[in-house]
Amino acid sequence: MVLAISFGLLAKRFHADNRITDADREWVRRFRDVVANRDQNLPEVGRYNAGQKLLFWVMVTTIALLLVSGIVIWQPWFAPWFSIGLTRVAVLIHALAAFVLTAGVIVHIYAVIWIKGTLRGMTRGTVTRTWAKHHHPGWYREVSKGTK
Ligand code: HEM
Repeated sequence: MVLAISFGLLAKRFHADNRITDADREWVRRFRDVVANRDQNLPEVGRYNAGQKLLFWVMVTTIALLLVSGIVIWQPWFAPWFSIGLTRVAVLIHALAAFVLTAGVIVHIYAVIWIKGTLRGMTRGTVTRTWAKHHHPGWYREVSKGTK
């Protein structure tokens, strides 16, 4: 519950930066270049790359599903309101959504290890200029507005 509410507030704040664009679709199509670090073949990345945006939407979807299905299977409070058939489907949805969310988090951890300098951004909330220029050039240009 606390997770769903706090994530809901966070998602509201970040959703504008997470809209999927044509450049993101192109980024996903060129995933081989992403993994091989051939950044010159990729469309310019803004504040978030398509992988980060996808994780955002996976989290929005699975947490919403977990919340709704979790309430349906919540014994002894809410479950008696629903039929046994619906409860069974809800348990299945709950377990599948938990699996997808966990898998997403694991991939996310690998991505952080893969790209040097990223953990600092997550723990301190800041990144170096070089890192930003290299991995998120569109965003770098926007925030630095002409300064080097
Ligand atoms: C968002 C709010 C959530 C609510 C209200 C909720 C509620 C519940 C309830 C009531 C159960 C059944 C417990 C029992 O009767 O033994 C359950 C089981 C479970 N929950 Fe959640 N849950 C939530 C979020 C999550 C999250 C974030 C995860 C993991 C990513 C998760 C993973 C599971 C798993 C794996 C089970 C066991 C499913 C099974 O038996 O197949 N839940 N949850």
